[in-house]
Amino acid sequence: MAAPATGTTQGAAGAGGPAGGRGAWHRAARAVYGCRGAGRVGAAGDTHVGGGGPLQSGPVPARATGRVGWGGRTMKELRVGVIGCGGQGTLHCNNARYVPGVRTVAYCDADTPRAERFLQTYGGAYATGDAQRIIGDPDLDAVFIQTGPTHHPRLVAAAARAGKHIFCEKPIALTLGEAQGVKAAVESAGVRFVYGTCNRLAPLVQRAQRIVPQPVYSLCQCQDTITHQAVHNLDLAVNLFHASPLVRVYAQGDDVWHLERDLPVDSFVATLTFADRSVHCYIQHGSSRNGTLRKYSYQLFGRAHCVFLADRFKRCIVHGSSGEVLQTLSFEGPDFTPQAEGTGDVRGPFGYMGHCEEIADLAACVRSGAEPVMTIRDAVHVLAVEKAILESAQTSLPVDFAAFCRREGIGPGRWGWGDGGV
Ligand SMILES: NC(=O)c1ccc[n+]([C@@H]2O[C@H](COP(=O)([O-])OP(=O)(O)OC[C@H]3O[C@@H](n4cnc5c(N)ncnc54)[C@H](O)[C@@H]3O)[C@@H](O)[C@H]2O)c1
Repeated sequence: MAAPATGTTQGAAGAGGPAGGRGAWHRAARAVYGCRGAGRVGAAGDTHVGGGGPLQSGPVPARATGRVGWGGRTMKELRVGVIGCGGQGTLHCNNARYVPGVRTVAYCDADTPRAERFLQTYGGAYATGDAQRIIGDPDLDAVFIQTGPTHHPRLVAAAARAGKHIFCEKPIALTLGEAQGVKAAVESAGVRFVYGTCNRLAPLVQRAQRIVPQPVYSLCQCQDTITHQAVHNLDLAVNLFHASPLVRVYAQGDDVWHLERDLPVDSFVATLTFADRSVHCYIQHGSSRNGTLRKYSYQLFGRAHCVFLADRFKRCIVHGSSGEVLQTLSFEGPDFTPQAEGTGDVRGPFGYMGHCEEIADLAACVRSGAEPVMTIRDAVHVLAVEKAILESAQTSLPVDFAAFCRREGIGPGRWGWGDGGV
């Protein structure tokens, strides 16, 4: 059975994997790939992957202090202040330990004892309940902000004005007006900013995109709240899989489960039509659970291949044009996989969702001056797509996306304007 050429990339064979133990895997992967995982080819037709290629390196950050060796070079350390010491704060602090040259040294939470526990666990200089202490600290180069979208706009804008490089969790804001304010602050400060829609960097998502680079159709289903999850899945549709301007948005939905008081609907079926005539269908199904598909899944339908991203991006099943399975790619890196779905956090330091890679991307871009993969412009745009869906669901009318963006004062997305493309 022939596997598609694009789906057979191999990592460093024999670099570890679960059989070698988590510590052995980490050491081997760090030696070979920096923070990213290695991979190995398993049984015929099955490929196990744990990450991508080597990390970039480049100039040192302006105000960095300590020095570490990385890839045979001497470079300064990126000293990070952490704002928001909850679930995602834990994840990012764990991941940062595996990104060479990054050190978390100060911790802030409105609930100060949480910040103190982080200081004990991850080490560093201080814990505080005052975010301004972190933002104004000249000894810090960067901040990780994961407090939730109510506070993201104010904290990100203040950090940018203070010259800090920023990683910020999604969603960037609750309104487009706030999001644009953040964008203006980040762009005028000229700092590096990484938007936490991690899945774009997930190993098997990237592999799926290479196998079906221009899907004719794509389909995503997701069970969760719109505010906290839709931007993840829409980001993949509009900023990765469909590399063409978004032209039209049409959605129908209802407030079925009353999950979000501030939104007109809590669930919807939306179609997004792109200038290249490809179409994405997105089903956000609130509290209705599908035990087979689980929290979310993605399918890409190309002219030659179909890809099914299953198990929260842990499996990528590649089908040929007759429906035969050509290859099954499986993520096999160390992560904090719980005993059973729904019993805890299923993300991890090298995890299959791209979390470690987004921290590595911030560090690499601070050093090189390059633009990160997930930008502030993407953050505004994907929120605009979500708002256009909500508008369409409310009015039952299609939304001309370029006109919507102009009305809201938003510039073109990463693929340009979609005027009259369909
Ligand atoms: N990328 C992902 O996979 C992913 C997964 C889960 C959550 N998230 C996002 O991460 C963000 C945080 O989610 P979480 O699950 O970590 O929430 P959480 O409630 O576990 O943690 C948030 C923490 O921020 C603190 N906080 C709130 N406002 C603050 C302020 N002004 N100053 C200092 N501390 C403050 C809270 O006390 C809390 O400890 C949300 O925006 C969420 O959507 C992303």
